[in-house]
Amino acid sequence: MRDATPTNAAEFNRYLEKLERRDLLRFITCGSVDDGKSTLIGRLLYDSRQLYEDQLAALEADSRRVGTRGGELDFALLVDGLSAEREQGITIDVAYRFFSTDRRMFIVADTPGHEQYTRNMVTGASTAELAVILVDARKGVLTQTRRHSFLVALLGIRRAVLAVNKMDLVGYDRAAFEAIEADYRAFAARIGLEQVTAVPLSAVHGDNVMAASTRMPWYEGPTLREYLERAEVSAVDAGGPLRMPVQWVNRPHQGFRGFAGQLASGSVRTGERVRVLPSGRETTVARIVTADGDLPSAAAGQSVTLTLADEIDVSRGDVIAAATAPPEVANHFEATIIWMHEDALLQGRQYLLKLGTRTVSATVAPIKYRINVNTLDEVPAERLELNDIGVCELALDEAVPFCRYADNRTLGGFILIDRLTNNTVGAGLVHFALRRSQNIHWQALDVDRVVRSAQKNQRGCVLWLTGLSGAGKSTIANLVDKRLVALGRHTYVLDGDNVRHGLNRDLGFTAQDRVENIRRVAEVARLMADAGLITLVSFISPFRSERRMARELLPPGDFFEVYVDAPLAVAEARDPKGLYRKARRGELANFTGIDSPYEPPEAAELRIDTTRLSPADAAERIVAHLERAGVLAAPAR
Ligand code: ADX
Repeated sequence: MRDATPTNAAEFNRYLEKLERRDLLRFITCGSVDDGKSTLIGRLLYDSRQLYEDQLAALEADSRRVGTRGGELDFALLVDGLSAEREQGITIDVAYRFFSTDRRMFIVADTPGHEQYTRNMVTGASTAELAVILVDARKGVLTQTRRHSFLVALLGIRRAVLAVNKMDLVGYDRAAFEAIEADYRAFAARIGLEQVTAVPLSAVHGDNVMAASTRMPWYEGPTLREYLERAEVSAVDAGGPLRMPVQWVNRPHQGFRGFAGQLASGSVRTGERVRVLPSGRETTVARIVTADGDLPSAAAGQSVTLTLADEIDVSRGDVIAAATAPPEVANHFEATIIWMHEDALLQGRQYLLKLGTRTVSATVAPIKYRINVNTLDEVPAERLELNDIGVCELALDEAVPFCRYADNRTLGGFILIDRLTNNTVGAGLVHFALRRSQNIHWQALDVDRVVRSAQKNQRGCVLWLTGLSGAGKSTIANLVDKRLVALGRHTYVLDGDNVRHGLNRDLGFTAQDRVENIRRVAEVARLMADAGLITLVSFISPFRSERRMARELLPPGDFFEVYVDAPLAVAEARDPKGLYRKARRGELANFTGIDSPYEPPEAAELRIDTTRLSPADAAERIVAHLERAGVLAAPAR
């Protein structure tokens, strides 16, 4: 609500000055679909008169047409109307809405309430300073409320308003409000939400939103507006030493090489000593360049291009930091992971991890526990399902500069990306580096893979046969093996059933066990290829992701994926071990092709159509392929 309109020039100037002095608060609203979130945001926008004439006219018309409020304005329509973009199929994860009062300007992160809610919430909360947690006075604190609060606290927000909405529907009852407040405070205290202010309100009627309600004289606290106007704002991560993740290397011509990025924390000035991570090289800042000319210094939040006094190697993803207080560099972490995809996070699977401006490969191993958001208990888990929050160890394939999330949101927060679909599937917060891997070094050996291969007059490699149970993998592998041995080659066959009798005895057929099954056999196959053997692997290996991981363990050209293709009906008709029958009778769970998926290869080196080729012909084709690929001759040095 604004002051009365200024009537003369002096008044007008004072008014403008006052507006300019206002600061900015970013907050997020969290609630379930029916908690009245849209109505509350609509009310804030309306009562602070942040609507354009046309929006107002549309709101009045829509309220008359479809409104549920008997001719009165239906504020939910307003926000939902503003979200028409979403319905047109344009993906907007978070809508940022702007409004202001005389004292302050506000940016509300409004996150849609449906399925992929967690992802949106994480996005919205990662830049917010405060959260408004909505609950329905009739329902009180729900699992959803606890999950949202837990996320908000995890993401570093320390202040929350518990907005107990729909007080009109509980007769503005003080006891109802106080019970919810007590319940929530007990939970908030356990998750580190230090400052909670509970406000009883009715977004529909406007009670305690922008103005104090006369219907709850027993309530002496602030209205929502008062609270939002007065809440202390501390800029996120502004303090601390300099950290600037390099977004890109700016090299327009030979004479200029600058490193562009946004300062995640601290400040920088020309002449300052900086260290570049992960290389650890030190130099001095020569210039701080911006579109508006050079600056003597820059602070957190600013985007600049730095030039350095020395010609040192800096690439995208590196971090330029204060020389005296550089961040740590590590390839092994403990972290909290928030899982945001329907396909579960599987222990042992590789994902891409993006931290700051750097993207590397990462494996979750192991998941230490999942958190029950109601009880905050730590529950043992081998997978994280949609919306689960868990604590995990992560092994990265490269060391990266990082901070603890608690110290720096930019360099302590990361996302996980599915390597096949490129979807963002999880978000994570670094707790600390694990030092274990730093005490294990790579031992260089003089007799290497080339020497071992030459000795055998062949090239060590992996021939990976994948396909349904009963497709004929083992039969074909056996024939290929016999032929190669007859040709005087050195080989070994790793067969699923056999390896599961020993090394992988502890594994079953759940998705996460299959991931681990393949991870182990891929590592073994790599060692055997390294020893110079032509290694035949015959595993169902149903997932693309793990087959790709196996491929990437070997030098290019030394991994041959062979799709032993038999339609399910054919494999089932063969049923050599009677397992399909068992699965159909319901006596065998998670059977591939029945109730567990098989993802056919998309770019296998060879596809064997077993409905057309006999096993002997298939074996001949495979051997011919190996010969053409030069595997049956000693490698060149
Ligand atoms: S994989 O999926 O993890 O690669 P793997 O090749 O090791 O499977 O083992 C498959 C073999 O285990 C099959 O040939 C079959 O004999 C046996 N088996 C037992 N239960 C199952 C099951 N639920 N799904 C698939 N194979 C099973």
